[in-house]
Amino acid sequence: MKDAVGREINYLRISVTDRCNFRCLYCMPEEGVEPKSHPDILRFEEITEFVKAVAPLGISKIRVTGGEPLARKGVVEFVRQLHEVEGIKDISMTTNGSMLSSVAADLKKAGLDRVNISLDSLKPERFHRITRRGRLADVLRGIDAALNAGLVPVKINCVAVRGFNDDEIGDFINLTRNYPIYIRFIELMPLGETGWGRGHYLSAEEIKDSIKEELLPTSAPAGAGPAVYYRVPGAIGAVGFITPISRHFCDACNRVRLTADGKLKPCLESDMEIDVKTALRERRGDEELRRIFREALLKKPVCHHMVSETNAAHLRSMWQIGG
Ligand code: 5AD
Ligand code: SF4
Repeated sequence: MKDAVGREINYLRISVTDRCNFRCLYCMPEEGVEPKSHPDILRFEEITEFVKAVAPLGISKIRVTGGEPLARKGVVEFVRQLHEVEGIKDISMTTNGSMLSSVAADLKKAGLDRVNISLDSLKPERFHRITRRGRLADVLRGIDAALNAGLVPVKINCVAVRGFNDDEIGDFINLTRNYPIYIRFIELMPLGETGWGRGHYLSAEEIKDSIKEELLPTSAPAGAGPAVYYRVPGAIGAVGFITPISRHFCDACNRVRLTADGKLKPCLESDMEIDVKTALRERRGDEELRRIFREALLKKPVCHHMVSETNAAHLRSMWQIGG
């Protein structure tokens, strides 16, 4: 279905939990966050019911996000339920990868098509510093398991931070030479309490300029979102740039988000939220769910105006909306 300015919306991103076993510096405070109590969080059955209701409106792609989606029990079964919904053609997941190695094969069997894995450093000590508790080896094992299970192409999300990982761009690019891996450098967004201000922002243009190798423009992989991709000569994988700050991609935006506590968010960068939990809990039926969904789509902002120095502390952070 189209929104008010004619954008075809076919993509629903579902955050299944706001909990995470990591505390990435740009995302969560050290002490963690007050976890939502059980009754506040949609049950998997409720989410599936919602997806069934809105699939006929043209939703065909789903991404499961968090927090860390694999931190919630029952995710494999949830993916299976989603896979059975008529009209759903593509299911992916964004994960920190730390718990992926043991479930990658099961997720694939359940119907998951692909994974995006967040990875901001290839140096163990630095990786631990940015995640405040992660172990790089676990994530590398997760990436390996995803490749083996056929959850491909594996996309790696790397938030580029000046003075933190800008010396590792070449190492990340090297990963694309021999593996079907798509590295996506993401511009740091001033969300939540990042602690990292404008001085740490690195534009995609600057990253690209710092790359010594030749970059050949290449077609986007399956399920490509807003990233623009390049290949170094001879590489199997590719390098992409996601530019929420330097060049927003609002006019091509095809997505709506559902938070773990049952709110539709028509735009990542707006605090507008539309409640669907009440309608689900009160069993108001599919027609009403579709009405709410249409309403959310029609309220989708035409464009956001986030710039690197925006004070966006009022916005929900990634652990709440899943990127
Ligand atoms: N700026 C840019 N990217 C972020 N992510 C989380 N917080 C931020 C931020 N402030 C990324 C995560 C994950 C993706 C969903 O969003 O690293 O890969
Ligand atoms: Fe967890 Fe992802 Fe936030 Fe890191 S960025 S704390 S892995 S939700």
